[in-house]
Amino acid sequence: MSGWKTGDLLDLQDLTREDIESILETAKSFKEVSTRDVKKVPALRGKTVVMLFSEPSTRTRVSFELAAKRLSADTLNVSVSASSLSKGESILDMAKNIEAMNVDMIVVRHRSSGVPKVLADALTPGIINAGDGCRAHPTQALLDMFTIKEKLGKIEGLKVAIIGDILHSRVARSNIEGLTKLGAKVTLCGPSTLIPVGIEVQGVKVTHCLEDVLKDSDVLMFLRLQKERQQEKYLPSVREYVRKFGLNKEKLKWAKKDVVIMHPGPVNRGIELSADVADGENSVILEQVTNGVAVRMAVLYLLLGKKEK
Ligand code: CP
Repeated sequence: MSGWKTGDLLDLQDLTREDIESILETAKSFKEVSTRDVKKVPALRGKTVVMLFSEPSTRTRVSFELAAKRLSADTLNVSVSASSLSKGESILDMAKNIEAMNVDMIVVRHRSSGVPKVLADALTPGIINAGDGCRAHPTQALLDMFTIKEKLGKIEGLKVAIIGDILHSRVARSNIEGLTKLGAKVTLCGPSTLIPVGIEVQGVKVTHCLEDVLKDSDVLMFLRLQKERQQEKYLPSVREYVRKFGLNKEKLKWAKKDVVIMHPGPVNRGIELSADVADGENSVILEQVTNGVAVRMAVLYLLLGKKEK
């Protein structure tokens, strides 16, 4: 048995609306810690958090490490290229060896969907999914929801458009789960080849017209075009994609004046967003990154509390 109730964060499917709201409230109180001169509270003193990332990451890995350190936990980064995975050891064997050193929490990123669940079912330390394949990225969705609530004061009833490569996006999947649970009206927009068939059953609308979502949305969440996951040709050309689904200053004129523009990063500048829009006044991209630390502090704190119980 693994999941939020037993001290793991694998997927927002496991969480109720109340669970999500409790994480966002806890993050609000932790956000202030990062603005102090001494950025540390003793909440997780004596605990050990291990980062096990077998896929590249800047934001998530650094943010988890800072979050754990600001809660006074000891942290350790396993360098996968320098680990025995490169000698053929399985990720499960490797994680069991890390468990044998009495760690409390393992934060995992892996290119295969389901790896965090396999580890959570087999191991005693808590497991946090920091992104598995195209399946889930729960802390990214939590920090996105935190940022929306901070900017617009609520999530219930807001019109949120998620634009781009939905098919390969774990960020989209987790955001659809979380945002619909909190009462947002979610519309997916992108080329038909990059939107999963039948996704409307998850309570979202689908459109292939960027102009429609620009005119109607409170929040525009752009996704990275994931060239590394695209083994087949999904697009006639990147130039065609930019023409139809990229946002620039000209197209931004169609949107509400105070629309919130988000992107989980890394941004392909000039593809999803032009540089002036990515750095413009509607963009909250760097605020998302700031909020990621507070949200991950809340997740670590709440999960380690559950493990102790
Ligand atoms: N948003 C996100 O997951 O970024 P990284 O891949 O840099 O962690």
